[in-house]
Amino acid sequence: TVSPAGVEEIIARHLHREGPMLPILHDLQDHFGCIPAEARPAIAAALNITQAEVHGVISFYHDFREEPAGRHVLKICRSEACQSMGGSALGEAVLTLLGLGWGETSADGRITVEPVYCLGLCACAPAAMVNGKLKGRAEAKALVAEVSA
Ligand code: FES
Repeated sequence: TVSPAGVEEIIARHLHREGPMLPILHDLQDHFGCIPAEARPAIAAALNITQAEVHGVISFYHDFREEPAGRHVLKICRSEACQSMGGSALGEAVLTLLGLGWGETSADGRITVEPVYCLGLCACAPAAMVNGKLKGRAEAKALVAEVSA
């Protein structure tokens, strides 16, 4: 559960900075595993912007999430070098095998699949990341097996 005190404290920590929004969002996500919806009004009030603007920033950056992730996070590169090496087919195959869409978490909370835009592993395209570990020349069945274990 989200304690309002935790949210306020994290916001206060960064308010003196120039451009406090991103540091606040990063800390909230580190602390809560996502940017909890309950935090939005507090951020908006502290920064004197609307809640819609806060939401806009959260959804602009792919690293922020508004829902907690599954226990396993599988990221698949959707940038050009990977796309030209079978990345789209890889993404489609993984989503089909798991019955999920981009950004979705399985109903049992086991896995979240997210798009990512270049993992710096273009030479070994298509690239993916499983729980923070890079995978070059990724193959759908192997990725799914790893997160299903
Ligand atoms: Fe996929 Fe760079 S484009 S890792």
